[in-house]
Amino acid sequence: MKCIRSKIIGCGHYLPTKVLTNDDLSKMVETNDEWISTRTGIRSRHIAADDELTSDMGVKAVERAMEQAHITPSEIDLILVATATPDNTTPATAAKIAGKLGVKVGTPALDINAACSGFVYAMTIVDNMIRLGQIKTAAVVGAENLSKIVDWSDRNTCVLFGDGAGAVIVRATEGDGSFMDQGVLATKIYGDGTQTENLYSTGGVALTKSAGFLKMNGKEVFKFAVGAMYEACENVLAQVGINTDNVDWLLPHQANSRIIAGVGQKLNIPEEKVIVTVDHHGNTSAASVPLALSESVQAGKIKSNDVVLIPVMGAGFTWGSMLIRM
Ligand code: UT7
Repeated sequence: MKCIRSKIIGCGHYLPTKVLTNDDLSKMVETNDEWISTRTGIRSRHIAADDELTSDMGVKAVERAMEQAHITPSEIDLILVATATPDNTTPATAAKIAGKLGVKVGTPALDINAACSGFVYAMTIVDNMIRLGQIKTAAVVGAENLSKIVDWSDRNTCVLFGDGAGAVIVRATEGDGSFMDQGVLATKIYGDGTQTENLYSTGGVALTKSAGFLKMNGKEVFKFAVGAMYEACENVLAQVGINTDNVDWLLPHQANSRIIAGVGQKLNIPEEKVIVTVDHHGNTSAASVPLALSESVQAGKIKSNDVVLIPVMGAGFTWGSMLIRM
């Protein structure tokens, strides 16, 4: 049966120039490369310059995605930015990106904050708007400036996070409703607001009139992450009526290589089909999935028609999964 699909027609990403290694961190706090790499899989991360804004990184990622999609800013009908580290409290970082890109006046632009799950949340919203015929072409961005809300004296958190941005251009395309269609095949998003205390920033507009610093109950998040991402994957696979044999790539949120491996093992997906970028990106929250996707496409790893399974989990708690054919 004919249907509308949301197809990714271009990906792009941007990483700040400055690279911070585990050895660099060992000069700042009581830590070492061995602890960080064995517990997290992280070896280095990119850090935005003091005056580098989330919107600056987002713009670069969208420009690269537009180049790959062969479109101009005038073709964009919506900009949706997933971020927990906006430039300003208001307006939205998406509005600033819209202004810097020069999209047509009248184009809606908004941010969503679903922490590390933000990109899959954003894609879910965009996919529904596209399938309802409300928009044709959207720029979906994940961009984070986490280094600005990291307490650089707290070894429990400062070794984990990084900065960067990834973006995709999504366009309405006709499909036949089958698993062979290119585009978003299924999404599922979840939340549990009773777990806000396990991963949060110590500040906020109403709370402290400042952004605060990241705090995490690492063990609780870890325990929850593997099972939640696994179940979200099972849900989207069941929606489409396929199993992991039909999946070319597992691309989970990049928080910790042990969590990524745990999800892969539970799903019975071999290691060589699992995308890992946390080693050189760190945890970039909402940017992690589009960053890993764009980098893998650019490297020729993820190709047109590949089926990619994308589970995510983050503060809130929020979690979910997306199944897409590129
Ligand atoms: O993106 C959203 C989702 N976020 C995540 O998925 C993160 C989930 N959690 C994790 O990835 C892990 O829990 C961490 C990497 C954060 C921590 O790993 P862990 O194996 O759970 O370690 P731990 O918190 O139990 O800490 C073990 C020890 C502690 O020392 P004691 O109390 O056993 O003496 C910590 O103080 O390691 C110590 N420690 C460190 N040592 C050296 C904590 N951070 C460091 C550090 N360097 N950077």
